[in-house]
Parts: sequence; C-alpha cells; structure tokens
Amino acid sequence: MLVEVPKRAEVVGTLKIWDVQRIIKLDADEIGAIAIKNIKESDIKEVVSRMVIVIPIKNERIHLLEGVLKAIPYNCPVIIVSNSLRDSQDIFKTEVDVVSHFHNLTSHPLYIIHQKDPAVAEAFREVNYLEILDGDFVRDGKAEGMLIGTIIAKYLKKDYIGFIDADNYIPGAINEYVKDYAVGFSMAKSPYSMIRIHWRHKPKIIEERLYFKKWGRVSEVTNRYLNALISSITRFETEIIKTGNAGEHAMSMKLAEIMAYSTGYSIEPYHYIYLLEEFGENGEPKYPEAASEGVEIYQIETLNPHLHEEKGDEHVQQMLVDSLATIYHSKLVTEEIKKKILEEIEKEPEKRLILPPIRDMDVDKFVKVLEESSETFLKFEKTEGSS
Ligand code: GDD
Repeated sequence: MLVEVPKRAEVVGTLKIWDVQRIIKLDADEIGAIAIKNIKESDIKEVVSRMVIVIPIKNERIHLLEGVLKAIPYNCPVIIVSNSLRDSQDIFKTEVDVVSHFHNLTSHPLYIIHQKDPAVAEAFREVNYLEILDGDFVRDGKAEGMLIGTIIAKYLKKDYIGFIDADNYIPGAINEYVKDYAVGFSMAKSPYSMIRIHWRHKPKIIEERLYFKKWGRVSEVTNRYLNALISSITRFETEIIKTGNAGEHAMSMKLAEIMAYSTGYSIEPYHYIYLLEEFGENGEPKYPEAASEGVEIYQIETLNPHLHEEKGDEHVQQMLVDSLATIYHSKLVTEEIKKKILEEIEKEPEKRLILPPIRDMDVDKFVKVLEESSETFLKFEKTEGSS
C-alpha cells in the first residue's frame, strides 16, 4: 500500500502524535517517490497475522455483522463481544448462528461471548477487577465490551489488537481499516503504538442527494477541545488531533495493557487524555519502560468512505457529552477550556468511571473461569489440517 510519509508530529513529553497520513493506493509495486511510503503486501500480511480484531456489538442488523466478518482478512482471529437482547427475541442466538455458519464455511477463527453472561462477572471477581461490575453483572457499554475483548486477545497472545464497529455498511472499507492498522504498525518505531482511523468522508443524504461530509458532528468538537488542551500544555497552538472519536483504532498489545479505559462512548477521547496525563510533560512515568521507548499515535486517512448506522440526535448528544467529560475532568485542563466546554454543553458533565489497566491481570485465570462456567463463550478455532 502507498501512504504519505508522516509530515510532522506534535511531541508532548514522551508522547508523539503524528499528523494525518493519507492512503494513496491500496496496492502497489516498488516505487521510488520521496513523500510516499510503500508498505509491502508481505509486511501487511505479517502484521495482520499477529493481530486480533474485536467487534463490540449490540442489537445490530445481522446482515451488517455478516459483512464485517467477511471483510476481515483471513489470518486475523475475531472476538465478538455482544450485549444484544437475549429475551424472547434472542438476537444473541442469531449472532451465534451467523458466526458458526461463517466459521463452517471459511474456517476463520472466531470467538464470541455475551457481556451479561454471569460467568464473565464471575471471571472479573476471580481476578479482582471489580470496577467493571454493577452488582452481579458487567455494566452496559461499548467500552466495557471492548475491555472483555482485550482480555481475551491478551490471552490469545497476539501482538496487536484492532477494534471494528459492527454497524458498518461497507465491507470493503472494513478490509481497508484492518490493512491501514497494519500500515501504521509497520511504520511505528515504538513497541507502544496506536493507530487511529480518520475517515476520508462520511456520506449523508442532504436535500435528497449524497453529500460527502468531512467531519462528524461530535468529532469536530472533540478534536477542537483536545487540540486546545495540547496547545495549553505546549503553549504552541496546534490542530494535530483529527481522530478524537476514532471508534476504529488499534493498539500494540503492550500499549493496550497499560492503558486505562473510560467507560461507554468516552473511551476514544480518553485515550488521548490518559496518554497526555501519563506520558506528557509532567507525567510521572508509572510505566518507565514505555516512557523510555516513547508512545506513538498514528492517524491514517482511509481511501474508503465510512457509512454506518445512524442512531439519532440523542445518541450523538450523549457521545458529545461523554467525550467532553473526559477533557473537562482531566487534571491537565485549564479554567478557560472548562468554561468553553460548559458553554458548549450547558451543564457540568459527570465524571466518567475509569477502568484500570489490565497489565497485571491473570488473563489465564480469567479465561479458565469462562471455559468452566460460561454458557455463551464459544470458540470456533481452526481445526487440524485446515490451512
Ligand atoms: N458489546 C457492546 N456493548 N457493544 C456495544 C454496546 C454495548 O453496550 N453499545 C454499543 N455497542 C456496539 C455497537 O453495536 C457498534 O458495533 C459499536 O459498539 C459502536 O456503537 P454505536 O452505538 O453504533 O456508535 P456510533 O456508530 O454512533 O459511534 C461510533 O463511532 C464514533 C465515531 O464517530 C462509536 O465507535 C463511537 O465510540 C465513536 O466515537
């Protein structure tokens, strides 16, 4: 694939945030241009084979899940963490049927689990990770589902973990996202790296015609405040962040396991806040090995547009409040930024719960509990002889 070389980066302490790099071509032979990097197909395949994809899902159209599964490159196992209905209309059962059928057809390695399975809560109690629980169950929330997936990915001993939403209408775009993750990891110099997808366009129907919007409503605002926060730290105005709400992102497992996670839809902007707090200019290095290697964030602009299920104004407003809450409550925030956020959302946002890093969690013990007690944890692995 051809990708623009990173032109510049914002460096804050030991955190390096690279400016957006556009994908120029989805495949290519050797070319000798200066401003363009050629990542070989074989390198992409190699990275993909060391990656796992986590799909959080809650009551999505089943055809969309099918499309997502078909689009993920073959060598990359998939972990689906579902929070879908399980009452009279058992959507989770339909998801299991689709996954099982897809595996029978393709032998693609797949894992599926339900977030509200009592055995998942039991596994968290067993490893003494109680922050994610609400009574007898794991709390609702996309971030909570992503964390369950991250633990299983760590158990599978993969080097990279990528996230893909289940409500995407364009399988070809998903296939590109996974390869874009691999492009980013191929460029990364630090073993502590994150790749965030910046969609080229998000098509909408406006006045009965397709309109290719550049910015989502929430991301435009989130990016503005994250950039204001960085500018206030470095004292140099910046617009470096273009991926504050990147639902599609990937991390090296080394970074994923030292990250703290904000709950619900605040997870993605909080990545930036957490990394600025831990690795920014005044961060105490809680993880000295990561601080000495440095942490890198790459932002990659896709070739494909992003077309996903629209979930209404209330949902968008909630995402905005969730996102700004992480900035508002950061220990790095200035009074000036807080004041502007209050003007934006009109009332003080509640502090979101933070889930601590999983680095010291006994993931083997966690999965053992699932294997012994869970009714929903299903593994569809490659069988002997399948290539
Ligand atoms: N396991 C699990 N648990 N999955 C969930 C839950 C939950 O409680 N809630 C939502 N999901 C799944 C959805 O089914 C979908 O696959 C994915 O999480 C994203 O949720 P959506 O509700 O569809 O969010 P969105 O499409 O409006 O926003 C997405 O894009 C934003 C960037 O524009 C999300 O990824 C946001 O986090 C992101 O900021």
